[in-house]
Amino acid sequence: MTRQQQNAPIITIDGASGTGKGTISQLLADRLGWNFLDSGALYRVLGLAAQKHSVALDNEPALEVLAQHLDVQFIARKNDFPRIILEGEEVTDLIRTEKIGNAASIVGALPAVRTALLSRQRDFREAPGLVADGRDMGTVVFPDAELKIFLLASLEERASRRLKQLKERGINVTLHDLIEELRARDRRDKERAVAPLKPAEDAICIDTDPLTIEQVVERMMSEIYQKKAFPATLNPVNKITDMSVAE
Ligand code: C5P
Repeated sequence: MTRQQQNAPIITIDGASGTGKGTISQLLADRLGWNFLDSGALYRVLGLAAQKHSVALDNEPALEVLAQHLDVQFIARKNDFPRIILEGEEVTDLIRTEKIGNAASIVGALPAVRTALLSRQRDFREAPGLVADGRDMGTVVFPDAELKIFLLASLEERASRRLKQLKERGINVTLHDLIEELRARDRRDKERAVAPLKPAEDAICIDTDPLTIEQVVERMMSEIYQKKAFPATLNPVNKITDMSVAE
């Protein structure tokens, strides 16, 4: 890791599926002009690669090797999620299905897989800074982050947000099925032995149920304002002139 990477400040945003964390993290990264790590996408790509190469989701040694050699590229885009290329093929949308989300959650419970993906995630730390989105960003991957946020939302609210997203994409599912899937995924994420989903001790928890996406981003910007931990030259708010969020 270069000196520039070591010095780049980090904001971690962790939380369960459907808390809006992906959209919020990406908006915040754009707002600050920082790099963005969607760590869930990495686990999803591994789930897809396992499917592609017919590797069983409980074959830990084979998945570890697959994770170590994963040929994946994240191509950053302004005002959008990164494009994701697996073995030369665009998989940006392909990894967003519920099936691949479940595969990601199964492979993510395997300790050897998590270790294999650690340095790949840490490589995203680059100047001028990084917004890292996931489950264990503040607890395991970047425990020295300057600002740690943990997003909360009720199961029902998360399921109805997900239902809306899927409907917009023309995918038909029932609210009941989504609630059951989220419940199962929560259980797996919270109860796994390594890097379980939980807030870091020094994380700021935000309940997103009563807030819009823009309000959550605003709340984070005010935390950044107040945060003394950012060195003056790196403090993102020193570089921002327009603090308003686009409607
Ligand atoms: O955030 P997203 O829904 O894309 O993540 C998919 C799955 O990947 C999660 O349900 C979780 O099990 C796993 N994951 C993880 N650690 C992370 C990010 C995601 O275990 N840092």
